Amino acid sequence: MILGIETSCDETAAAVIREGKVLSSVVRSQVDLFREFGGIVPEISSRRHLELIQIIVEEALSRAGVGVGELAGIAATKKPGLIGSLLVGYSYAKALAYGLSVPLVGVDHLHSHVYSAEIGRKFEFPLLGVVVSGGHTAAYMVEGLEFKVVARTRDDAAGEALDKVAKKLGLGYPGGPIVEKIAVGGDPYAFDFPAVRLKDGSLDFSYSGLKSQAIRIIEREKLEGKRLKDFLASFQRAVVDQIIDRLQALVEIYKPVALAVTGGVSVNSHLRERVSRFAESKKLNLYLPEKKYCGDNAAMVGYLGEKLLKAGHREDLFSTPFPRTEASKGTKQFSAG
Ligand code: KG4
Ligand code: ZN
Repeated sequence: MILGIETSCDETAAAVIREGKVLSSVVRSQVDLFREFGGIVPEISSRRHLELIQIIVEEALSRAGVGVGELAGIAATKKPGLIGSLLVGYSYAKALAYGLSVPLVGVDHLHSHVYSAEIGRKFEFPLLGVVVSGGHTAAYMVEGLEFKVVARTRDDAAGEALDKVAKKLGLGYPGGPIVEKIAVGGDPYAFDFPAVRLKDGSLDFSYSGLKSQAIRIIEREKLEGKRLKDFLASFQRAVVDQIIDRLQALVEIYKPVALAVTGGVSVNSHLRERVSRFAESKKLNLYLPEKKYCGDNAAMVGYLGEKLLKAGHREDLFSTPFPRTEASKGTKQFSAG
């Protein structure tokens, strides 16, 4: 039985996993806290994680009907994320692992998003794994537990672009679900947002140009009613166009047999439809996460963590998970002795 813990951003989450099965998955979102700010405030987020972590872990154990003494290992998100938020979950996990004398494994948040699509199924490899979220847009070639980055965003993430455009329109936070809802019935080609490649020819993602173009239109024109629907349908289409454009090119180069599209934005119906059509046209096996595993959750952390633990991955409970800087060199490092 593995306990998974996720606190990299604004969800406090814990889950219990056994042999790839999710016995419980508890997610407490902080989204309500950040509506008035239109985005996450890191200090507030860390404090909320601190208040909630114990309660959420207890809830996950109790829903799974598992006692803490039955845990064989702990998996916690180690990077990337907000440093204060990460530290809450990771330090909690470290202390619990030490107290229980069970191994701890640190999990990469983006790798766990990719593996969220395997829950209840079995991946085929080589797999092109894509994460489309509020903090990240990245693509990996995946072979078992080996991940090779093949594209990542140079600036904004796809979800971030949706969030910022919705904020500029005064529609609320987070923007992705609001944009999806309003865009229904809109004309996705009413506004011409081209899917651009970077000037250096790389296949990295870039959403800041598209976002700025959208913001200029918002500043120029009063968008209401059908016109607002058309605008958001076009913007959503353009966000997805870029993903499809990169997928086309990456599939040509890396020749995967399967494709996984994951992360908070992968709950979006327009993205799911387009990606499904694309996978079909290329005869790729497509894995989309169940909707409850698209956004941040700990089931994906426990799920990948269990595989990592089985493969022998272990964290040193006495080392810092974060790289030491020049300033800290020469400072005594605690050792397990
Ligand atoms: O994976 P996630 O929960 O957190 C990060 O790791 O970033 O992703 C959150 C992102 C936000 O930008 C949010 O606007 C977006 O996912 N999102 C959506 C939808 N629901 C959430 N984007 C488009 N359509 C949705 N229905
Ligand atoms: Zn995430």
